[in-house]
Amino acid sequence: MSKAIYPGSFDPVTLGHLDIIERSAKIVDELVIGVLNNSAKSPLFSVEERVIMLREVTKNLSNVSVVAFQGLLVDFAEEIHANVIIRGLRAVTDFEYELQMTQTNKKLNPDVETIFLTTNVQYSYLSSSIVKEIGKYGRPLEHFVPKQIEQQVSEKLRKMQTEYK
Ligand code: PNS
Repeated sequence: MSKAIYPGSFDPVTLGHLDIIERSAKIVDELVIGVLNNSAKSPLFSVEERVIMLREVTKNLSNVSVVAFQGLLVDFAEEIHANVIIRGLRAVTDFEYELQMTQTNKKLNPDVETIFLTTNVQYSYLSSSIVKEIGKYGRPLEHFVPKQIEQQVSEKLRKMQTEYK
């Protein structure tokens, strides 16, 4: 029985993330989306908001759950008895950071394997930072985030932009 974690900040979840989630859910028995609760990163959305948004967009996937975690990813993997970490690779620019993270995780727990899925080419440019950049100038986000959360993300970004004017 394979249980995998798809970890990330998901601030907010993008269509690129969702594509990786849907494809991973087909190849593992159970997929846990691990949402990093890291106050040092000062995210736009609280960890509770990010978890709720991810639950909303994955509610049709029966083997997918969403959990917040703090601390080291390998400790979280051990805690929930997951033996696989899944990460998406968009372009060669992702590779160095991903390799460093994977090798660190492997050193910390040799029993946990990392598997990379290459991002669908139509999302290869997409990131949560890009979504935030576009949304704060009031542009529609339909091509970038799942439709269920588009309004919430747009409103939050517009509000933030007005507050800082
Ligand atoms: O979506 P992101 O921000 O690229 O995800 C990064 C994440 C959450 C996978 C990474 O920062 C992480 O695993 N953080 C937990 C701390 C940890 O385990 N660090 C050691 C690996 S270098």
